Amino acid sequence: MSTTFYLLFLLLLSITAATVVGITTVSSDIAALKAIKSAVNPATIPSYTCLYSWDFTSDPCSPPHVTHFLCGLSCSGNRVTQLTLDPAGYSGTLSPLISQLLQLTTIDLSDNKLSGPIPNSLFTLPNLQTLILGSNSFSGVIPPSITNLKKLQTLDISHNYLSGSLPNSLTLLTELTRLDLSFNKLTGPIPNLPKNLIQLALKSNSLSGYIQQQPFTGLTQLEVIELSQNSLTGTIPGWFFLTPSLQQVNLANNNFTGVEILKPVNDNSLVAVDLGYNKISGYPPANFSTYPMLASLTLSYNKLRGRIPLEYKRFSRLFLDGNYLTELSPEFFSRKVSISGSVGDNCLRKCPVTSELCLKKQKPLWICRQVYHGKLKLKL
Ligand SMILES: *[C@@H]1O[C@H](CO)[C@@H](O)[C@H](O)[C@H]1NC(C)=O
Ligand SMILES: *[C@@H]1O[C@H](CO)[C@@H](O)[C@H](O)[C@H]1NC(C)=O
Repeated sequence: MSTTFYLLFLLLLSITAATVVGITTVSSDIAALKAIKSAVNPATIPSYTCLYSWDFTSDPCSPPHVTHFLCGLSCSGNRVTQLTLDPAGYSGTLSPLISQLLQLTTIDLSDNKLSGPIPNSLFTLPNLQTLILGSNSFSGVIPPSITNLKKLQTLDISHNYLSGSLPNSLTLLTELTRLDLSFNKLTGPIPNLPKNLIQLALKSNSLSGYIQQQPFTGLTQLEVIELSQNSLTGTIPGWFFLTPSLQQVNLANNNFTGVEILKPVNDNSLVAVDLGYNKISGYPPANFSTYPMLASLTLSYNKLRGRIPLEYKRFSRLFLDGNYLTELSPEFFSRKVSISGSVGDNCLRKCPVTSELCLKKQKPLWICRQVYHGKLKLKL
């Protein structure tokens, strides 16, 4: 009798508590979470994972989360605001019902094995600020409708199988500061870019064409450009390095044939440039030394010839291997702090092996003679 009373009392108490706290996750959010869980292959949901703890006999947003809904989501009141799954190796697809989680600000499903297209409905979420789907197996294109995500600040879908070209309407993502679509199968030219971008990473895709001014117009915040391992071509234009906030540029492993370096007129914050593994011919551009902050320069494995500009001796890192360079001033070795880097695999006559720069061997004489039409009297 007293036990029954006691239980009844507990039941009433818990009902009252729930009413006082007032949290019962809205039903459309619960339906979305159920759909998201059931689109994941159950064999990839072991007992230690977040998704395993999603047991819908209890309410997702109601605390305390002692046994159920231990992780993978956050709520504000009765709405889900963050979906941040653990990197458990979940496979399966992403349910289109994710678009019912109308208060979502953050989605992070990185380091799993989710595949198929990113559902179009996801691009209707009105409050999304962070979308991280990196290191999964998503395929398909990035549709122009992505620009509906007006509040998006971070977009990272790197290391997936995205294909097709990028929409020029990306400029409409005015809040976007970080864009990382590296390691996909994207093709076409560099699209017009959002004006407030700080970091741009499109490494290891199949982007082609010239570097045109239009995509970069008005990008005054841009600090990092990572476009290595694509099929970009032509001459890298001088204005590119004058982008006002630019600090790091990586254009290595493309098909560039030339580079124009203009002297900066205003403040310039460029610190590191990597143009290695292209087809840049001519003399190494001495104007690089007019960039006041530039400390690291890589021009390895191009087709540069002639002398290494004396002006380069002020850099702290210098990589010029794999060209046809012929002269290096002894002044490079009279610095107090030695330069780190390498000038191996060139046609340098005097490169003292006591210097770290010269540890790698130079090219055989016959190759250098061929390049310089036998005119070079080299004593290697
Ligand atoms: C570079 O250009 C050459 C000749 O135009 C072409 O054959 C080659 O496939 C290109 N390489 C890359 C990585 O785009
Ligand atoms: C170096 O910069 C100046 C000033 O911007 C420019 O006129 C000149 O053509 C540049 N030199 C080379 C070799 O590109």
